[in-house]
Amino acid sequence: MKKVIIINGPNLNLLGKREPTIYGNTTFQDFYTELKNDYAKKLDLHYFQSNHEGAIIDKIHEIGFDYDGIVLNGGAFSHYSYAITDAIAAISCPVIEVHISNVHARTESFRHQTVFTAKCKGIISGFGLNSYRLALEEFSRG
Ligand code: DQA
Repeated sequence: MKKVIIINGPNLNLLGKREPTIYGNTTFQDFYTELKNDYAKKLDLHYFQSNHEGAIIDKIHEIGFDYDGIVLNGGAFSHYSYAITDAIAAISCPVIEVHISNVHARTESFRHQTVFTAKCKGIISGFGLNSYRLALEEFSRG
């Protein structure tokens, strides 16, 4: 079975409480329980969240030559972290960048640039928590 990890960056531990009009009312723990159940027969699914850039880089190094896929929501780091971008480029495992909101439609212009994307397999942005499911669908194919 393919080994896939969801890595969530800063502030995503507050899903369910944080700006619910943008990010929804569901906690990631509840959503992840659903995902584990739905993908039980298709993917060996793992989860990691950190508010710290270095911890995210360490996790990418730890699993990036072993796992079959990373679904990465880097939160605000997606817009400016060249260090995480370099970590994505360094590993052999494909990365799909995801965002809950459509970052290109957000009012703050800093969200319109995503530095990870050039080193990722692709980007899914704007489908709410379903963005994660769309990425997992891609990894569960083939
Ligand atoms: C986000 C979008 C980012 O701009 C923001 O900093 C986040 C969440 C999203 O999932 O829509 O923390 O990555």
